[in-house]
Amino acid sequence: MVQFDLSDRETIFSSLPPGGIGAEIGVDFGEISKVIRRNAKPRLLYRVDVWIEQSRAVCGHDPANYRQEIKDAAYRQVLGWFVVDEGVRVVKEFSEIAAPMFPDDYFDWLFLDANHLRCYEDIQAWWPKVKSGSWLMGHDYCTAGDFITVEESVDRFIAETGLPLLTTDDPIYKCWIIQKP
Ligand SMILES: C[S@@+](CC[C@H](N)C(=O)[O-])C[C@H]1O[C@@H](n2cnc3c(N)ncnc32)[C@H](O)[C@@H]1O
Repeated sequence: MVQFDLSDRETIFSSLPPGGIGAEIGVDFGEISKVIRRNAKPRLLYRVDVWIEQSRAVCGHDPANYRQEIKDAAYRQVLGWFVVDEGVRVVKEFSEIAAPMFPDDYFDWLFLDANHLRCYEDIQAWWPKVKSGSWLMGHDYCTAGDFITVEESVDRFIAETGLPLLTTDDPIYKCWIIQKP
């Protein structure tokens, strides 16, 4: 039985049982990925990001939707840090294409932080990939501008499943956690 320390994003990763298989979906420059690696201590961590500049129609005015040159730099940085780390695999792909590459019931935890207008679709894609008893989590449980509708997506999934929802104590941009029965 895991008791999450819900203080913030860093503490929830410290609360996870070490030695699992985890994934971060939406990595950007990898700064939080380093924290995840350090705090969660997985035996294998997948980093999934498409690292492609997308249209406003897809992402809204997401400040992380940089020009392609900057996306390329972010990808190179993440590859460079982890290319010799046997505990890390980098997957440069759209979330919705990457999810079916994995077997069902594979991950001990999974953290969604990719397209914040597609969180419901990401939950649907990745939920089967999480083991029973394990956790689907994510960032930015809120509504902001024209580029974050995560709260609505998570609440919809909770309404459909009746599962309990945990959120961190951050004043905004909270993390959300759902345990798979
Ligand atoms: C908010 S940033 C991630 C931030 C990172 N988790 C952190 O805390 O440092 C969102 C990332 O998701 C990626 N992204 C957006 N849509 C995506 C999709 N459909 N599939 C995979 N990655 C996507 C973007 O390239 C961007 O790097």
